[in-house]
Amino acid sequence: MKSVVKIEKGLEGVYFTESKICKVDGTLGRLCYRGYSIEDLAENSTFEEVSYPLLFGVLPKKGELNTFKKDLSDKRALPKEIIKIIEESVNKCDTMHILRTAVSALPLYDKNLDSKTSDKLQDSINLISKVASITATIGRYLYGKKYVAPNKNLGHAENFLYMLNGVLPSKKDSRILDKMMILHAEHSSNASTFSALVTASTLSDIYSAFTSAIGTLKGPLHGEADENALRMMYAIKDANNTENYINNALNKKERIMGFGHRIYKTYDPRARIIRSLLTEMQKSNNTEIKNITEIALAAEKMMIEKLGKSHGIWPNVDFFAGPVYRYINIPIDIFTPLFATGRSPGWCAHIIEYLENNRLIRPLELYEGKTNLHYKKISSR
Ligand SMILES: CC(C)(COP(=O)(O)OP(=O)(O)OC[C@H]1O[C@@H](n2cnc3c(N)ncnc32)[C@H](O)[C@@H]1OP(=O)(O)O)[C@@H](O)C(=O)NCCC(=O)NCCS
Repeated sequence: MKSVVKIEKGLEGVYFTESKICKVDGTLGRLCYRGYSIEDLAENSTFEEVSYPLLFGVLPKKGELNTFKKDLSDKRALPKEIIKIIEESVNKCDTMHILRTAVSALPLYDKNLDSKTSDKLQDSINLISKVASITATIGRYLYGKKYVAPNKNLGHAENFLYMLNGVLPSKKDSRILDKMMILHAEHSSNASTFSALVTASTLSDIYSAFTSAIGTLKGPLHGEADENALRMMYAIKDANNTENYINNALNKKERIMGFGHRIYKTYDPRARIIRSLLTEMQKSNNTEIKNITEIALAAEKMMIEKLGKSHGIWPNVDFFAGPVYRYINIPIDIFTPLFATGRSPGWCAHIIEYLENNRLIRPLELYEGKTNLHYKKISSR
C-alpha cells in the first residue's frame, strides 16, 4: 500500500527553525530586523548600524559602532591573488560566477579557517567587508579599469562607490546606496539564506556556507530578478509601449520579473521605500533615467490593476531597484553581486544563530521509482 505523505513542494509553508533576526509579515506587508521596522532603519540608520544588530543582536553604542566600522574598514583591501582571479575571469563569464569563485578563494588568506577554532563573527566581518570590495572591483574590471584600494575614511556604501568609480562619491549617491544596502541586508529564510544554513548545518566552514548562498542567489527567481526587470524596461523602450509589452508577455505565460513573492501577498515594504526615490528620478535630465522611471511606474500601475488584489502579485524589492541603481550609475552587470553585498550580514547572522543550536538539515523525499529490479550485465541489456 502506498504511504500517505504530505509533500510541501518548495518547502512552502514549512517552519524548520526558530529565529530572532527578522520578521516578515507577508499579509500586512511588514518587515523588521531585530524588532526595528525597515522603514525606521532605512530612514534613520546606516548599513553598518543595521549590520551590527543583525550580527550581535542589539543596536550598537557609539564606541561599539566605531569599532565595528574600523573592523570592516581594516578588512577591505583585497589580496592580490583575489584581484587576479577577477582580472582573469571578467568578461568571460557571469559576474556572479566571479563573485562566487573569489569568495570561495578567500579562506586561502584566512589563517584561522579551521572551523573549530575560527571566530565566526570575525569571519563574518571579513566576508561583509570583502564581498563589497570584490563586487566593486568586478565592476571596475568590467570596464577595463584597475583595482582601487579602499579609502579608510569612508563608510561602507561610500567606499563601495569609491572603489567602483575611483573618485569620491557624492553624499547623495552614497546615501541612496546605503539605503539600498539596508533594504537588502536581511530577509529571513529566503532561498539563499536557507542554502547557507544547509551547508553550515554540516559543520562546514562559514566561507563554504556563504559560497552556497551566492550560488543560490544567482537564479532569476531570486537575486537576478532586479537585473532582468531592468532588462525588460530597456526592451519596453517607451512607457507608452508598456501595456502592450506586458500583455504579450503574460499571454505567453511569462513571468514579469520584480513582481510576486513567496511570502508577500501584498506590496513588499522594501519596494515601497525604493519607489519613493522615483519621484526625484522623474525629474532627472538623464534620458535613460527618466525613461526607465516612467516605464517602471507604468508597469507597476498596470500589474497592480491586473494581478495585484486579484492574484496577490505585487512589486517586490527587485522591481524598482534597477532604475535606482542606474540613477547612481551602477552597471547592470553587477546588480546581483551588489544584492549579495547587501545581504552579507543577513547570511552571516543566520549562520551564526543556527549553529548555536545546530541540527543537520536533512529533509526527506518520497521515493516513487522502481524497486526489486535485478541487475543485468551490460552485454545482455
Ligand atoms: C518570486 C516567485 C518565484 C514566487 O513564486 P511562488 O510563490 O512560487 O508563486 P507561484 O510560482 O506558485 O505563482 C503563483 C501564480 O502566480 C503567477 N506568478 C507569480 N509571479 C509572477 C510574475 N512575476 N509574473 C506573472 N505571473 C506570476 C504564476 O505564474 C502562478 O500562476 P498560475 O497559478 O496560473 O500557474 C514568483 O513570483 C516569480 O517568479 N517572480 C518573478 C521573479 C522575481 O521577481 N523574483 C524575486 C523575488 S524577491
